[in-house]
Amino acid sequence: MALDNPFLTQGYAGKEYFCNRQKETQKILTTLENGRNLTLISLRRMGKTGLIHHSFKEMKVDCVYVDILHTTNLKEFTLIFGKAIINQLETPLGKSWNQVLNIFKKIQPSIKIDPLTGQPAFDLSISNEKEAEDTLEDIFNYLTKRKKKTVIAIDEFQQISYYPEKKTEALLRSYIQNLHNVRFIFAGSIKHILTAMFSDASRPFYQSTQFLFLESIEKNEYTEFIKSHFNKSKKKIEENILGEIVEWAHLHTFYVQLFCHKVFSKTDKNVDEKLLAEVKSEIFEENEPYYISYKNLLSTQQWNLLRAIAKEGSVSKINQKKFLNTYQLSASSVQRSIKALEEREMVALEGNSYRVYDVFLGRWLAENY
Ligand SMILES: Nc1ncnc2c1ncn2[C@@H]1O[C@H](COP(=O)(O)OP(=O)(O)OP(=O)(O)O)[C@@H](O)[C@H]1O
Ligand SMILES: [Mg+2]
Repeated sequence: MALDNPFLTQGYAGKEYFCNRQKETQKILTTLENGRNLTLISLRRMGKTGLIHHSFKEMKVDCVYVDILHTTNLKEFTLIFGKAIINQLETPLGKSWNQVLNIFKKIQPSIKIDPLTGQPAFDLSISNEKEAEDTLEDIFNYLTKRKKKTVIAIDEFQQISYYPEKKTEALLRSYIQNLHNVRFIFAGSIKHILTAMFSDASRPFYQSTQFLFLESIEKNEYTEFIKSHFNKSKKKIEENILGEIVEWAHLHTFYVQLFCHKVFSKTDKNVDEKLLAEVKSEIFEENEPYYISYKNLLSTQQWNLLRAIAKEGSVSKINQKKFLNTYQLSASSVQRSIKALEEREMVALEGNSYRVYDVFLGRWLAENY
């Protein structure tokens, strides 16, 4: 089914709506096929989750996707992980019901109707930590016995480092390394946590995976993709306009998609400068209340630094006199503020330059302050 608007701002709807990422997809496939697990890292909203679903389409094995962003402890992990595995590898109809009952020694799975799809789905409930550990063991035993090749992607994997159960990493690592038919993708956006987890010699997952750092989509690839979708719908868009869109959105996937989504929905024929200006002010208007609330969340020094970075677009030498003087910042406060801004994910480090993490907030700050 063709979508009314080809520029997705969430989810994955198939190859047609997904720009490029051929090299990255290939890398994922060969890494997993050769028996290694993979760690996928990028800035937020760069396209990790989309890429996982895209590469699943190319795999000839069973695939499971699980997002653990909202888990805060081992029990919640086990529930979400267990449900994802059972529901994506078994169907609640027919003979697999008995097989599923046999997987779990301590808990009793049930079936409920998924309110979103209206379809029956397996449900689990766990009452305490001991039960969680036993259930996790049952799930890994099930995976071990299942002979079929399987890929499991755990998205937002950095979450496990916040669990109060500090043994989680070691526990998962020991189960995972004993699975011969299952490969894993660990994805996330908090780079320092994930790189430490997989490259610090004292940590359980040390050097156990291949890293893939996902960067922006190449400019020409993206503009060609955008142009082809406009042209398919008989809408005309010139090269300079295409260039302006991807530049303004800093080639950051989600922001390019949202910008194009809005432009596409606002015209039946040509895209011109006037329309771009209209979309930009609409974006600002929609988000202004959030942007203004950031001002209250940050200290004056942090806000001033954020504004200065926004005005510059990107800053490689944050302590350079010229930058400090232009924006009347002091070297010591900049040192402190940049750490806080990084922790709050208000700025992102791209290569060795800082920029405002939320691209549209950066544009708004540059224009309004
Ligand atoms: N290659 C692509 N072509 C077109 N759209 C894409 C592509 N990759 C991702 N998108 C779209 O960009 C948006 C952000 O992508 P996605 O959610 O995959 O990013 P993410 O890195 O997982 O983000 P987060 O860190 O917030 O989880 C989504 O709307 C998605 O549909
Ligand atoms: Mg994601």
